[in-house]
Amino acid sequence: KKRIAVMTSGGDSPGMNGCVRAVVRMSIHQGCEAYCIREGYEGLVNGGDLIQPTRWEDVRGLLSEGGTSIGTARCKEFTERPGRLKAAKNMIANGINALVICGGDGSLTGADKFRGEWPGLLEDLVKSGEITKEQQKEFQYLNIVGTVGSIDNDFADTDATIGCYSSLARICEAVDSIDATASSHQRAFVIEVMGRHCGWLALMAGVSTGADFIFIPENPPAPDWEEQMCGIIKRHRQFGKRKTIVIVAEGAHDLELNKISPTKVKDLLSHKLKLDTRITTLGHVQRGGTPCAYDRQLATLQGVEAVKAVLEATPETPSKFIAIIENKIVRNPLIEAVATTGQVAEAIKVKDFKRAMDLRGPEFAE
Ligand code: F6P
Repeated sequence: KKRIAVMTSGGDSPGMNGCVRAVVRMSIHQGCEAYCIREGYEGLVNGGDLIQPTRWEDVRGLLSEGGTSIGTARCKEFTERPGRLKAAKNMIANGINALVICGGDGSLTGADKFRGEWPGLLEDLVKSGEITKEQQKEFQYLNIVGTVGSIDNDFADTDATIGCYSSLARICEAVDSIDATASSHQRAFVIEVMGRHCGWLALMAGVSTGADFIFIPENPPAPDWEEQMCGIIKRHRQFGKRKTIVIVAEGAHDLELNKISPTKVKDLLSHKLKLDTRITTLGHVQRGGTPCAYDRQLATLQGVEAVKAVLEATPETPSKFIAIIENKIVRNPLIEAVATTGQVAEAIKVKDFKRAMDLRGPEFAE
């Protein structure tokens, strides 16, 4: 009988709970035993109470809850082999032979590494007498499957990550609120949004709220951007617009990779255009809160598919993650997607912005 464990890792995102619920219930539905690992990889490394058998009713009500109720952490110990050795030992002690991880690219890469090392880890545990030869044989394969939970929508080979549409909706709500007060006073607002190195949230928020100007890391503005931005905003004001909204992604920079800060943009609007300007940093409001319908659905469908995938995986199957492509839930190779995701950061670092935009996909090109 399989024991399937689910964990959430990296930054939380709305919908992670729905994924946990789906994995637990689908595992039970398939006749397996479900386990939750609390506090991400920390739970795997430290074991004990952090690894818990989970019943159908334990995940009741989770679908509509934001964050992740089983906790998450960025765990340094798991990035080193001794930490992974402890994790392997804890998994075997609990009889767990399959793992579903909902997290970002770092967390999923860690999982694949763990799987690759698995036979060697078991060998070491036998040598140190921590597991028996019989256990080594019984647990010789580890199946892992990822689902991508992140508000940033920064992962390659999937159209959406679990949480990105909830975050986008929250940003839009916030911008709508700001719109009302901005219009009342004829003010300008510079709004900083999250996304680490990815401009998806800023780009989509700009489109969805009709912002005057946006800054994203993948497509830095032209060298004369200050004049350009001021020219556009001036024109909008001449058309009778009573407010100005500029959205700045947290990772925004110019062509020379100098950070474009909200303060810099504010100073320009205040001094060059004489606009009464305020800055709003949306911060973690964007990450918490109730998941939107789309994220609940995505998390559920992907959690179900993840269980099917771990049950069908063979030792030869390369690690997979569950993606959504053109509205279909599919299994994609994990390592290729991690590599492509990394290539975007690389392209930005060497200032090849065309490549960064191409790698992000058609939404950015349009
Ligand atoms: O990856 C999700 C994210 O919210 C990013 O958008 C942001 O840059 C980062 O996490 C913030 O991390 P922390 O919560 O550790 O400050």
